[in-house]
Amino acid sequence: MRVLVLGGAGFLGSHTLVALAEAGHAPVALDNLVNASARAVERAAGLGGRAIPLVVADVRDAAALERALREHRAEAVIHFAAHKAVARSVREPLEYFDNNVGGTVAVLRAMQQAGVERLVFSSSATVYGVPARVPIAEDAPRGAVNPYGHTKHACELLIEDACAAGGRLAALLLRYFNPVGAHPSGRLGEDPRGTPDNLMPFVSQVAVGRRPWLPVFGADWPTPDGTCVRDYLHVMDLAEAHVAALGALEGGAGRAPALNLGTGRGHSVREVVAEFERAAGRPIPTRVEGRRAGDVAVLYADCGRAAQVLGWRAQRDLRAMCADAWRFQRENPSGYAAG
Ligand code: UD1
Repeated sequence: MRVLVLGGAGFLGSHTLVALAEAGHAPVALDNLVNASARAVERAAGLGGRAIPLVVADVRDAAALERALREHRAEAVIHFAAHKAVARSVREPLEYFDNNVGGTVAVLRAMQQAGVERLVFSSSATVYGVPARVPIAEDAPRGAVNPYGHTKHACELLIEDACAAGGRLAALLLRYFNPVGAHPSGRLGEDPRGTPDNLMPFVSQVAVGRRPWLPVFGADWPTPDGTCVRDYLHVMDLAEAHVAALGALEGGAGRAPALNLGTGRGHSVREVVAEFERAAGRPIPTRVEGRRAGDVAVLYADCGRAAQVLGWRAQRDLRAMCADAWRFQRENPSGYAAG
């Protein structure tokens, strides 16, 4: 299938390009390169064994999206392009709604104009807010607790309404838990600009010597070792779930079901640090700090519905996530910047 991948130069997008190419699809990347590198698309093309065009455009530009869809005769869209830093979303809600929700309006308009009827949307476990119980299943109520989460909830509602409007649009809302790791080649990985917001890239940068220690946000949580527990998912498992999602859209017109993507297993911050120390063969200094606003003690997914609908289950464990993240960091200590 010819697939336009919005946000294709980013962390999740670039790995998905490889999985699509390996599965025999023809991906095209579109990205504004504000928080991503064209090198990631070049490297994905090398790994996937086929040319992958890159369209440099903003996801809010419906005319540019429509042109890209027509020019590349796209049959499906995978929409990763969004802002995702929770703290920044609290300071800049307008920018977050404009980019994330405004962008998704533009995507749906362009798809309608160009007659493209298949959409896979990047949602997040953030839509659940503070869940009443774990594991979290898709029918748990949505109740995001920050502007970033509100934008993902709003996009889900928008896509559900667009599907219900009677056209032929078929969509899947994929709710990611904590995607981490890297392509096993060491050529592709996560390369955040500035101080990383998330645990794994922060740990990697401490391991490679770019930062002196990892702040641990609270060691007094009601968990076995006192640190928060999350459902970490290898980015190549996530990429493969998107390939399966394209197949599952067939015959799904008028619907936008949500699917959790995780492993269904939780790991604490201390477990992640210990596994990364093993992978890197060096100690990772930590300092316990206060709890981060908005964190909850334990989050992990019920992944039963994804298994049923996609025939997909995560294959890679925490050891592989850390080993692959470390390989990318070691071989690209400054990320993509150095070439
Ligand atoms: C976060 C977002 C989530 C978003 C996801 C994107 C919050 C509350 N949630 O998930 O909405 O979809 O990123 O990838 O921001 N930790 C440390 N030290 C650090 C960084 C993190 O101890 O320097 C801890 C956190 O307290 C947390 C765990 O590590 O317990 C994972 O944090 P993170 O990687 O930021 O993911 P989430 O908070 O689960």
